Parts: sequence; C-alpha cells; structure tokens
Amino acid sequence: MRPDFHEIHTFSASGVDVTVWHLPFPANGFGGFRPLIENTFLDEFMEHHRFTGLTYDDVSLITQYADFLPADADLSTALTTGIRLNIPYISAAMDTVTEADMGIAMALAGGIGIVHKNLEPAAQRTEIKRVKYYLNGFLVKARTISPEMTLADVEVMKREKGFRFSSFPVVDNNRKLLGVVTGSQFRYAESEDLTVGEIMITDTVTARPGISMQEAYDILLRHKISILPVIEKDGTFVGLYSFKDLRRIIKGKSGGECVDENYSLRVGAAVGPGDHERIEVLLETPVDVLVVDTAHGHTRGVIDMVKWIKSRWTDQQVIAGNIATGEAALALVEAGVDGVKVGIGPGSICTTRVISGVGVPQFSAVYNVSKALRGTGVPVIADGGIKHSGDVPKALAAGAGTVMMGSVLAGTDEGPGERVLIRGRQYVAYRGMGSLGAMQQRHGSSDRYGQKDVDSPKLVPEGIEGVVPYSGPVGTILHQYGGGLRASMGYNGCRTIADLQKNARLVRVTPSGRREAHPHDIQFVKDSPNYKTGENGD
Ligand code: XMP
Repeated sequence: MRPDFHEIHTFSASGVDVTVWHLPFPANGFGGFRPLIENTFLDEFMEHHRFTGLTYDDVSLITQYADFLPADADLSTALTTGIRLNIPYISAAMDTVTEADMGIAMALAGGIGIVHKNLEPAAQRTEIKRVKYYLNGFLVKARTISPEMTLADVEVMKREKGFRFSSFPVVDNNRKLLGVVTGSQFRYAESEDLTVGEIMITDTVTARPGISMQEAYDILLRHKISILPVIEKDGTFVGLYSFKDLRRIIKGKSGGECVDENYSLRVGAAVGPGDHERIEVLLETPVDVLVVDTAHGHTRGVIDMVKWIKSRWTDQQVIAGNIATGEAALALVEAGVDGVKVGIGPGSICTTRVISGVGVPQFSAVYNVSKALRGTGVPVIADGGIKHSGDVPKALAAGAGTVMMGSVLAGTDEGPGERVLIRGRQYVAYRGMGSLGAMQQRHGSSDRYGQKDVDSPKLVPEGIEGVVPYSGPVGTILHQYGGGLRASMGYNGCRTIADLQKNARLVRVTPSGRREAHPHDIQFVKDSPNYKTGENGD
C-alpha cells in the first residue's frame, strides 16, 4: 500500500473483495481535496445486478429535473490527475485511428489523441511533435533580410512573395543577428535607396531559445515591439515570435482547444510494457501523457513500467490499462498512475472475449473500476464499445471521466486508414491492434497481446480487420457527439460530468426495450448526421 493512502472501506466489486484507499491529499495537478463521488442509486442498481455483466445497451438513463438548458452544460472533465480536457473524447491509440492529423483535430476540438506505437520510436515522436508545434507561435522559418538590401529591394520582395508584414530580422552571412527593421523604419525612411543596414534598429530586444510563448508575449507587450528574435549565446538567429501571432493564439483562443501551459496542443503517446528505449526517445521532447497500453493491464510488466517511468520522470502523466476490476485499478494507482483505462473486449474490432472467453461487459467494468477509485482522484477512461453518442453519458454515469473511441473516428478525414470504394460507397480501413495485420508489421502490436517474440504464423489474433463508412471531418462527428451528450445532461438534470457521475439514475433495458429505442416500424430510413441505416445492430 502507498503510505499516503488511508484505508476507508472494503467492498465487493464483481464478487472480489476490494479495499478502497482514500488519498488524503491531491495526487498532483488540480489542487484541492477530491471528494468521494458516490452515487447511491447506481450502487443499489449494480448491487442488484452484481453477477450480471451489463453493457451500454443494457441500461438507459432516467430523466430528472433540470434548471438549465443543454447548451449550458459543462463538458469539461479530467483525463488524468494533472490534465483536463474540454470535451470527454479521446482518439484510440490504433494505427488506423491516431497519428498527427487526428491528434491535431482532437486537441483543437478540446479532446486529445493518443498516437499509436506501431511505428519506429523516432517516427512516433515526429507525429507527436507535429501536434505539439501546430499552434506554436514560434517561427523557425522566419524570413530574414540582409543589411545590403535597399528598401526598394525589400518592397519588391514583399510584393513578389505576397508578405503582408513589414518586420524583419536582419542577419549577416553567418545568420548572426544584426538588428531588426519594422514598419516604422520603412514608413519614415526618406529614400527607397537607403539600405536596410542604414535604417535598422540595432539595440533590439532578444530572447534565448527555450523561452515560453507566454514569456515571449509578455516581453513583446512590455516593450511594445512587433517581433522578438530568438538568438543563441553567440548571436546566431534561431527564429522569432511575432506579437500578432501570439496575440491571436493567447488572446484569441476560443477556450475550446486542449492546450498545455505554453499554448501547444496536448497529445499522448502509447507505449508498451517493455518499451524503455521508445520512452527515452519519446521524452526527448515533451509528451503530455504516456499511455502504457496493453490488453491486460493488471500485470507485473505494466506495473513495473509505470513505476519505472514515474521513478525517472516524476512529473510525467501516465495512464495504464486495460483493466476491468477494482483490484487492478488499485494496483495501478499504487504503482503511481495518473489515470486508468478500462476495457477488456468491448471494442468493435475485438475478439478477445470470443477467442479467450475473458472480458467484462463495459458498463459493469467501468463501474467496478470507478467505484474502487472513488476518493483517490484518479480518473477513469472508458475505452471501446462506443457506437452512438448516447453511449457516452452512460459511460460517464458509470463513473468514467472520458471515453476512448476507435471505430467512431476511424472513418474521418483525419484518420490514417486507407480509403476504399465498395459498391460505390466510400469506406476507410479499420483494424484491431490485435489483428494479424497490425501484429505482423514491423514495430507491430504483438506485445500488446503478450506475443512479442512469437513467429508470425504462430500469432493468435485477438482482433479483426475491416472497414467503416467514410464519415467526413472529425469536427463534425465530435459536434454531433457533443450535442448528444449535452442533450443527455439536460435530460439527466446534470450540468457537469461530476454531477452525472454522482446523480445519474438508470433502468435495465430488456431486448424489447432496446428494439423500442431504435427506429422501428418504418422503412427506408434516411441517414441523419447522428444515425445511419442499420445502426440498430440487428
Ligand atoms: P472501438 O469500439 O471504439 O474500440 O472501435 C477501440 C478500442 O478497442 C481496443 N482494441 C482492441 N481490443 N483486440 C482487442 O481485444 C484488438 O485487436 C483491439 N484493437 C484495439 C482498444 O482498447 C481500442 O481503444
């Protein structure tokens, strides 16, 4: 047991006795005491179904009094003890779901993407860097001019290149910074024949590499200057911050993007239990969260890996999984995780339950884990099995803080899956990380399924390969999912996700109740933005 945990009570999750530890101080991150979020209605409901594995389709939420409109619902939530998202959606760490484009789109929308690990470590880091630098106001390829150019030369260059800005750093042949020229110098120059060297400001304010965006913005504001050149100790020009760009990013931020303290988009990286070298490579540049991603997270390999990361990079946020029991959750929390991922076999492409007979239907799994973690402040991610926007509030009601989605996002423009045309309709390839294809490739995912050194013909797959319908931009999907969740929070009378975790009430659904829920007794149903023909699963 971690010495900083107090034992508070013992209960039975899925028939296994579990002791809950209460963390008296916040693990890290948000500060403040973490209340024990209890939902006595849910506890009674689940006690009643103690030996039944329930999933999203088996339950339905009950309406409750609301004193607000769905548009006023707050979708922000905790991903880990130290990271908050503005919407509770995460794109799956799969090679047909999350690379840089998906990571950028998810973070711009307020969620986060976890870049998969079926890549060389350096290639995975490149994808992560593309996300981190996407919003960055630091211009590494800033246009420079030389002191010999005349103002007429600069005007011609501006016209030819279509530059709308007038501030330039002036450098010599060795890229040493000599000064800067701005709009005022051009405006008040008496002749176009003057050279840049004659009008440039030489006592310009500069900064050293590594300065944060906020610090750069503060300097630009304090000195009322339009550009801040960044130079090495020996004066070599590295790049610049522009006041206009930084103001757009810092002030113009809609509040919707998921960004770190430097206003860079947040992103995560999947790693395996034996991936020490990969982690060293990845952490040469910041990664918001590492996800120790395996099919069975309640194992020595995963626990040791979490401890190893935490012992070397104390402040690094770490999520581990996948798990389905309270015992597993507590073991991972004891190892030091900042978030746990739940899901043994609920995924659309998973065959784990079929080939091994193991798994817990996802609503029950999320509940078991969330209940065990009450009071620890460690959030739960419900990974896999989301088919409709209405599954998300059910996952949150079971205690999750966020959901991870694969099939819902794989068909979007931002997914890396190959597009295929089948009978005149567009589809996108989507495959399980435990499918033969994903495990067989170089840097494949066989380690996720404990088969790292197994020869290709002997691999035992736990996933399949297929296609999902092409579904347009991620933003459109997340808009529909956000709308569905807001509607649900309105129906539930729960303004925040924490309210939903605490106050949701639900009923058990029978097969006829499920039939009633989907469109029935009507033919040739037209596709709508959040419901397509054939989605009733029959
Ligand atoms: P969805 O339902 O969103 O599920 O498509 C995505 C999640 O499924 C997990 N995953 C797998 N599980 N075999 C499995 O048993 C697989 O081949 C496989 N591939 C992915 C993973 O947790 C993912 O986020």
